[in-house]
Amino acid sequence: MKTLGEFILEKQHDFPHATGELSALLSAIKLGAKIIHHDINRAGLIDILGENGHANIQGERQMKLDAFANETFKAALEARVVIAGIASEEEDNLVIFGKDRATEGKYVVLMDPLDGSSNIDVNVSVGTIFSIYHRITNIGTPVTEQDFLQPGNKQVAAGYIVYGSSTMLVYTTGCGVHAFTYDPSIGVFYLSHENVQFPSIGKMYSINEGYYSKFPMGVKKYIKYCQKEDEKTNRPYTSRYIGSLVSDFHRNLLKGGIYIYPSTAQYPNGKLRLLYEGNPIAFLAEQAGGKATDGYQRILDIVPQKLHQRTPYFVGVKSMVDDADRFMAENP
Ligand code: AHG
Ligand code: MN
Ligand code: MN
Repeated sequence: MKTLGEFILEKQHDFPHATGELSALLSAIKLGAKIIHHDINRAGLIDILGENGHANIQGERQMKLDAFANETFKAALEARVVIAGIASEEEDNLVIFGKDRATEGKYVVLMDPLDGSSNIDVNVSVGTIFSIYHRITNIGTPVTEQDFLQPGNKQVAAGYIVYGSSTMLVYTTGCGVHAFTYDPSIGVFYLSHENVQFPSIGKMYSINEGYYSKFPMGVKKYIKYCQKEDEKTNRPYTSRYIGSLVSDFHRNLLKGGIYIYPSTAQYPNGKLRLLYEGNPIAFLAEQAGGKATDGYQRILDIVPQKLHQRTPYFVGVKSMVDDADRFMAENP
């Protein structure tokens, strides 16, 4: 039985920067995860369900737990001196942790503190997503927005926590994907899945088919392809959609599947946010032998223009994403 802390120490050499920094960063994430786990498991008993009456900068109604998770992770990350500041789906602007940290902090963290918030009130699993970059401006000068608007291929670490039938933390530093299951009785994450890889052949597709009529033609045709019988390629695929990217991705990673959130009439640029959802999950997907695109190009190569930028999203087993991309290219 190996703990997350022991595993990180052992793999220090995975992290090209100084000793102890990844431990400090991930231990902040680990602490936030334990607090959220604790509260989610008492949802219904304490006052954390429902909306809080506010909207975030993207006009989405905030749930109480969105705001609580945001504050929890913000406080945990602020306590680590290596972090200059954060960007969050629930914050209008960058949060820089004071003057000294702005100049001396080496890392920036971007996060979706609570993913799948529409599932909270009905006891369905939700998640947290995080993405870590080394700053590109010089230490000694204040960190700038430029440090946060890096393409995903510059991430030094990324991961998610899924609060499901058990709570798991899954992360990568670019040397494979490793998953840890939380034992709440003693408050420890144990290594449960080392070097996770997508199955080579997929069998599930995940998309909100309620919006079918609003999808691009390539997606419509790909859905029909998924439903068509063909023994050689394992079709028809089975359909699974939770409505929480973390949970849908986690299942597809272990069982073999594709997740799609394309552009729609309501969301012409897609719904998912490139920096908080798209990039970290794409980094994990590629490290697990999968693929992530916007239907045409690699997610990790997109140069972000603004913090809350959205992107159409196709992620999962490589051969499945290849097929979906082909349908997109053939049906402009
Ligand atoms: P969030 O709760 O962080 O706003 O993210 C929700 C996202 C994603 O997790 C999920 O897959 C998708 O929105 C669901 O959207 P629809 O309800 O439109 O299918
Ligand atoms: Mn989300
Ligand atoms: Mn969210």
